[in-house]
Amino acid sequence: MERGARKGLGARSRREADGSFLPLRGRGSGRGSRDTVRPVTEDAIRQSLSRRVADTLLGARESWTRRMFELANSMRADGGGPVYDLSLGNPSLEPPEQWKEAVRTQLADSAPGRHRYMTNAGFPEVRAFIAGREAQRYQIPLEAEDVTMTVGAAGALNVLFRAVLNPDDEVMVPAPYFSEYDHYAANVGAVLRPIPTTEDFELNVDELVGAVTERTRILLLNSPNNPTGAVYGEDSLRALASGLRGLRERGQRVLVVEDTPYRDVVHDGSHVSSMLEHYEDTVLITSHSKDLGLAGERIGYLVISPRAHARVPLRRATSFCNRVLGFVNAPALMQRALPHVLGHPDGTVDVGIYADNCKRMADTLRELGFSLRDPKAGFFLFPGLPEAMRTAEGGDIALTEALREARCVVVPGTAFGRPNFLRLSMCVNPETVDGAIAAFKHVCP
Ligand SMILES: Cc1ncc(COP(=O)(O)O)c(C=O)c1O
Repeated sequence: MERGARKGLGARSRREADGSFLPLRGRGSGRGSRDTVRPVTEDAIRQSLSRRVADTLLGARESWTRRMFELANSMRADGGGPVYDLSLGNPSLEPPEQWKEAVRTQLADSAPGRHRYMTNAGFPEVRAFIAGREAQRYQIPLEAEDVTMTVGAAGALNVLFRAVLNPDDEVMVPAPYFSEYDHYAANVGAVLRPIPTTEDFELNVDELVGAVTERTRILLLNSPNNPTGAVYGEDSLRALASGLRGLRERGQRVLVVEDTPYRDVVHDGSHVSSMLEHYEDTVLITSHSKDLGLAGERIGYLVISPRAHARVPLRRATSFCNRVLGFVNAPALMQRALPHVLGHPDGTVDVGIYADNCKRMADTLRELGFSLRDPKAGFFLFPGLPEAMRTAEGGDIALTEALREARCVVVPGTAFGRPNFLRLSMCVNPETVDGAIAAFKHVCP
């Protein structure tokens, strides 16, 4: 076992169960050399930043995932040995050779003007290619203009929120959910309204439909889900579509926004159903951050349903918002390379390794008394803590701290509003899984 590892959840872990070991909390620097807290006072933060950003950085809403990722980075430099980092969904697999080839070919083309501005929604031929592919996938008649190329899925979500939401509008989301959504809604002064899923993290269709108010503009779905790994089935989506359609009788039209960057990371390769197949007012958002291992290259897109009530205004607005949010357009080189990768039989990454990681870790966790569903898609596990580790406030932070001392970095369920859970990102190499398994076995009695 690595230096610093301890058996079980000791008294100190419990005492520090408020997360004080975490960096970026602005608590001063006097908590011991192993801490990496920055010496910045709350006053300095409040005086120099906007209220909204200061409140976020000083409060619990700052991204736990990012903090844990930064923590793992700082641990790598502390000389204490390997770090088993399961914090961020940062794919370990390299992009396909075909992508490198496509980028090299694009760069070798010395025709003038290839690196200039373009239409804000992206190159017409790339949008046409994506439209054709999505039309085939979901059997719907799309046009190039229904596609806006974006700076990843995150860029697309911000573009869409800016295009559609007024301050105080509600974005309804099944919970637990990807915690960045809070910040994206806050960017436009809108409010996220979490509606709990079932015990099994399935959609609670009746509750979702029943919770719609006159302020609800968007229902945000994420399947396969981060953090739970749930994949919403055809029946749930059909029932949801029918419920939402029913609301129109009382004059309420809810736009479904489907965030699907994990739809091609499905362990048995099966098709993930989309609301594009069931409900007219839908915008699908995706990216190639996860399935092609291109998270740093920032390439994604959004697709407006051809049957959407606001199809034409949305086409114009998403292009406009891409521009005025400062993205201007998705990266030109990545756009140009994409059709040569997606259209090529070798243009994929074998994500089977993520499925193996999930299975190995899930088997170990079950042996240790954690509860979790069989992982089907994506690369996240969201195990419930064994009974003995649960506390009224949640034992996840104490366990996160104990694991950190065993040099394994995870995200506590608190980050997702579920204090008796952990989120583990399994898009890592098998050696990291070996180390993480050893750390869990050491820490969990
Ligand atoms: C559910 C979900 N949506 C969106 C994103 C952002 O993806 P991208 O890198 O394409 O912006 C992530 C990244 O982790 C995610 O998990």
